[in-house]
Amino acid sequence: MTSQTIPVEPFDLVVFGATGDLCERKLLPALYQRQRAGQFSEPTRIIGSSRSELSDDQYRSFALDAIKAHVAKAEIDNRELDRFLTRVSYVSADATTGRGFKELKAAIGDSANVRAFYLAVAPSLFGSIVAQIDAHHIATPTSRVIVEKPIGRSLETAREVNDSIGRVFDEARIFRIDHYLGKETVQNLMALRFANALYEPLWNSAHVDHVQITVAESVGLEGRAGYYDKAGALRDMVQNHMLQLLCLVAMEVPASLDADAVRDEKLKVLRALRPINQLNSERVTVRGQYRAGASNGGAVKGYLEELGNGGSDTETFVAVKAEIGNWRWADVPFYLRTGKRMATRVSEIVIQFKPIPHSIFGDAAGRIFANQLVIRLQPDEGVKQWIMIKDPGPGGMRLRQIPLDMSFAESFHERNPDAYERLIMDVIRGNQTLFMRRDEVEAAWRWIDPIHAAWEERSQSVQPYTAGTWGPSASIALIERDGRTWHESF
Ligand code: BG6
Repeated sequence: MTSQTIPVEPFDLVVFGATGDLCERKLLPALYQRQRAGQFSEPTRIIGSSRSELSDDQYRSFALDAIKAHVAKAEIDNRELDRFLTRVSYVSADATTGRGFKELKAAIGDSANVRAFYLAVAPSLFGSIVAQIDAHHIATPTSRVIVEKPIGRSLETAREVNDSIGRVFDEARIFRIDHYLGKETVQNLMALRFANALYEPLWNSAHVDHVQITVAESVGLEGRAGYYDKAGALRDMVQNHMLQLLCLVAMEVPASLDADAVRDEKLKVLRALRPINQLNSERVTVRGQYRAGASNGGAVKGYLEELGNGGSDTETFVAVKAEIGNWRWADVPFYLRTGKRMATRVSEIVIQFKPIPHSIFGDAAGRIFANQLVIRLQPDEGVKQWIMIKDPGPGGMRLRQIPLDMSFAESFHERNPDAYERLIMDVIRGNQTLFMRRDEVEAAWRWIDPIHAAWEERSQSVQPYTAGTWGPSASIALIERDGRTWHESF
């Protein structure tokens, strides 16, 4: 089974931060893959920009190295790669002084292509870049701007970032990336819920006992100490990716897939989250920080040694019991946990259904497990619906739990495209469904800020956990207090 590639209109994509990590690891490989898939129309151009003084050829050679390093060998097609590189050019520019923006304008010329500016730079530069774009009249009325987290580190700072971009681009032209929304399986969550009649009638507090969302990583700091130590797991993962997943699970059925129809429903969920503050934070949140241990088959340092700063109180793990105050989800906890240096890399959503109300089977039949729907986002993407069946054979009525198992890799033998491939193409198509609207980002911060304030006020310190485990024991206690356990099918 192959999916169809529909070419997008010709576009000019200007990437600021063109020599940075995001562009190297994600954007250039994603753009090359779209070239290989035949999705570009002529005359599409990619213009890299950063402060470094590079010639077009030097930047092409950077792009070539990036693609070779981050695309599987079997997917390198030299002809397509050459074609791709002919689209690439480079302009050195500095947004703090305005140097190079005249040259950038000249490089773009008066092309009628869809125009998009990707700000793959620190958010502190967003404001000056869009101001220079404006001052040099580089944006057309339909130009788009793409930004990514961190969008602030609190509600107040998020507003400042949003205001600085909003001075030049209106909301319909701002594409805020949460790369989790571009993941194939995350979108599948919408297909599962809204393209099947089976689940929706059960998708509520009458039938669902609780929901678990786990995003576990085995990596540590990955050289991002400067950013990460100021952020911590709550800002880095929960404010954005985890809450977006929660929204997709919990939202009402939107009237359509139109961007605002979907985003309106997600916003309602964010607004219905019950506050966590100094009154309940110790009961419903756990902060952790990894100590030395083993990960990916080798010994690894603890967070503080990796950081080279023994005094940091930044959490590398967080578990939260979130509750949504509305009819659909009354008394259905959403347990969220995420961490670095955990036992394995896995992202999963578990919908735990309630037990059957009455059993007609005797004790000899064995335990009847409540149904469970496990949506595996990565790796080994797929869906498992755990059900009870009769154990085969003539030995009487014994029951057994088995999964109806759909592994996407086994069912579809296609490459799983990276989130950025879809998201960049959606920008060109002008489709904002998978991008966060300003009010969503701010509503998420409005829920997160009091958690940080409570941690500070109650001096809720980080609990140590050994690298390569499932986090501090307090995280297990958090869910076991409610008579439940973390799902571990790993
Ligand atoms: C990023 C976080 O947004 O998501 C990183 O800043 C994290 O800390 C990453 O490692 C996880 O993304 P993925 O796609 O590897 O699950």
